[in-house]
Amino acid sequence: MVDLVVLTGAGISAESGLATFRDAGGLWEGHRPEEVATPEAFARDAALVHRFYNARRAQAAEVKPNAAHAALAALQRELGPRMLLVTQNVDGLHEAAGHEDVVHMHGALNRASCGACDARWEAPLVMAPEDECASCGAQETRPDIVWFGEMPQHMERIYAALEGASHFAAIGTSGQVYPAAGFVDLAASKGAACWEVILAPSGNPWFEEIVTGPATEAVPIW
Ligand code: APR
Repeated sequence: MVDLVVLTGAGISAESGLATFRDAGGLWEGHRPEEVATPEAFARDAALVHRFYNARRAQAAEVKPNAAHAALAALQRELGPRMLLVTQNVDGLHEAAGHEDVVHMHGALNRASCGACDARWEAPLVMAPEDECASCGAQETRPDIVWFGEMPQHMERIYAALEGASHFAAIGTSGQVYPAAGFVDLAASKGAACWEVILAPSGNPWFEEIVTGPATEAVPIW
């Protein structure tokens, strides 16, 4: 029985040096990330999309988890299966901090999948359009990342946990992207106590408790 569901977003990894989505405003090779992280972009120019994720995989390999990731891993050691961590992040920083059984609802940089047979495997650091799937041989390998317009992963497990949880916390997420942005509404409607831990409050009225500040300070306090 899951008592606490924690949802994390890019803000928890910001102090490790990974840019968030909506603070960065950053462009990559002159493209907005939203333009590159789509099935259409991949169909149009797979080499460009692979370059984008090769760059993010290389950057993610250079950064370290921070005190916020470590605090959540310590909490999991205390709560065990009573806690479920769901992350929108595709970096491996929660795992690097010792967190186990992390639910990556938007996929993960260190995983690849096959567009033809749906096989999944650990992604090499560099991927390219001519790579062949180890299972079926098709040259349709892709980053195992959930792109805009695609269904997030592990949704049944997440909703089952939210149905029964007595506590919910959203950490470092702007609450702009659904379905993750709707988790607090569901948790609150089931009577869960809801916290927001973030640099600046999102203003969502469902959060009864708010801890503001950089995640490396606010999460250990929370
Ligand atoms: N500590 C805590 N919060 C922070 C910090 C920090 N050091 N730095 C930034 N933040 C906050 C920002 O103020 C913002 O509210 O973290 C939030 C990050 O929000 P986004 O950049 O929108 O990232 P996220 O919520 O994870 O985006 C969700 O959108 O682009 C898609 O699939 C992508 O998973 C991503 C999803």
